Amino acid sequence: MSNWEDTALFNALRLREQPRRPVWLMRQAGRYLPEYRKVRQEAGGFLQLMKTPETACEVTLQPVRRFGMDAAIIFSDILTIPDAMGLGLYFAENEGPKFSDPLTDENKINAIAPPPMEKLEYVLQACQLTRAGLPPEVPLIGFCGSPWTLACYMIDGSGGDFRQARQLRAARPDLLRRIVDTNAKSCAALLSAQLAAGAQAVMIFDSWGGLLDGAGYEEFSLQPMADIIAEVKRQHKDAPVIVFSRQCGFHLAKIAACGCDAVGIDWQVPLAAARRMAAARVAIQGNLDPMTLLAGPEVTAAATQKMLEEYGPGPGHIVNLGHGIDKTTPVESVSAMIETVRNFDATGD
Ligand code: CP3
Repeated sequence: MSNWEDTALFNALRLREQPRRPVWLMRQAGRYLPEYRKVRQEAGGFLQLMKTPETACEVTLQPVRRFGMDAAIIFSDILTIPDAMGLGLYFAENEGPKFSDPLTDENKINAIAPPPMEKLEYVLQACQLTRAGLPPEVPLIGFCGSPWTLACYMIDGSGGDFRQARQLRAARPDLLRRIVDTNAKSCAALLSAQLAAGAQAVMIFDSWGGLLDGAGYEEFSLQPMADIIAEVKRQHKDAPVIVFSRQCGFHLAKIAACGCDAVGIDWQVPLAAARRMAAARVAIQGNLDPMTLLAGPEVTAAATQKMLEEYGPGPGHIVNLGHGIDKTTPVESVSAMIETVRNFDATGD
C-alpha cells in the first residue's frame, strides 16, 4: 500500500503547500460515461450494478482510468442504509429513488434500528476490490448520507419537497430526533467499516440540509454529523472526513468547526468567502456549477481557471463541482476541467 499522506488529496486535506491542486468530481462514475452505461445495461439496472461488488468496483475505476482523477469515490448510494433497515429501496425507470415501506407513522419510527453490517457487506466488498484495483497513488473515498438527508427520504418515501419530513420537524421533533440518532449510529458504523475495508477518507453528503430552518439545521443535521465524525475518528484517528451540506453557505463557519477536515460548498457560495469563513481550519472542496460543463470544453476551461484564481494562492483547495455531475455532461468538458487544474500552478508564484 502506498503512502496516502503524500497524495495530492491528502496534502490539500492537511492544508499543506503543493505544486498542484487535487481534483475529483461528485458522481464522477455515472451515466455521462458511455462505459458506465454499458456496464449498467449488462448488470440490468442501477441497484444490481451497485449491489454487485465486481461491477461497483469496475464503474468506480472508470473515471480514474479515463481522466486520471486524484481520488476515486466508491460506487454506491446514500440510501443503502435505509434499504438495509428494511425500507425497501427501488428505482422506477426515469424516476428518483423510492421506498416501498417508508416511515409513515410513530410505530414504524419506533421500530427502526441500525442495520447489521452483514446487510451492507456488498459495499465493503466493493471497497476491498476497488482498493486492490486502484493505482496506489489514488485514494479511495467512502461515503454516507447525513442523518437528516436520509431521514428526508425515509419519511417521505421519495424525493420532492420532503413535506412530511419538514412537518415532522415542526410537529414531532422527538420522533425526528429518534430517526436521526438511529441514522447517525448506522452512518458511523458504515463509514468506519468502509475505512477498515480499504477507503482512505470518507465524505458525508447532506444534500437536503438547506431545507431546514437555522436552529433545525444545527440540531438535526449538523450535530448528528458531528456525532458521526467523533465516532469515526475514535475508531480511525487519522482518517479525513469531508462534509458537504448543500445550500448551507450561511452555516459555513459552524460546519468548519464540527470536527471535519474539509467542507464541500455549492456554487452559490463565493469560494474566496468560503475560504475566509473556514479561516484555514479546514480545506474547501468545490464548487463549479455542474451546468457550466454542459456549455462545452472552452467555457468549462475558462470557468475552471476563474474558480482556481478565486480561491487564491496557497493550500487547501480540493477542486470539485458544487453538486453531482449531470448525466448530459459532455466528456470533453470533464477533460477540459481536469486539464485546466493540472496546468494551474497552485503555489501562486
Ligand atoms: O460520486 C460518485 O461517483 C459515487 C456514487 C454516488 C451515487 N449516489 C451513485 C448514484 C453517490 C456519492 C451518491 C450519493 C447520493 N445518492 C446522494 C447525495 C449526493 C447528491 O447527489 O445530492 C443522494 C441524494 C442520493 C440518492 C439518489 N440516488 C438519487 C436522488 C438518485 C437519482 C439520481 C439520478 O440522477 O437519477 C440516485 C441514483 C444514483 N446514485 C445514480 C448514481 C450514479 C443514478 C444511477 C443510474 O440510474 O445509473
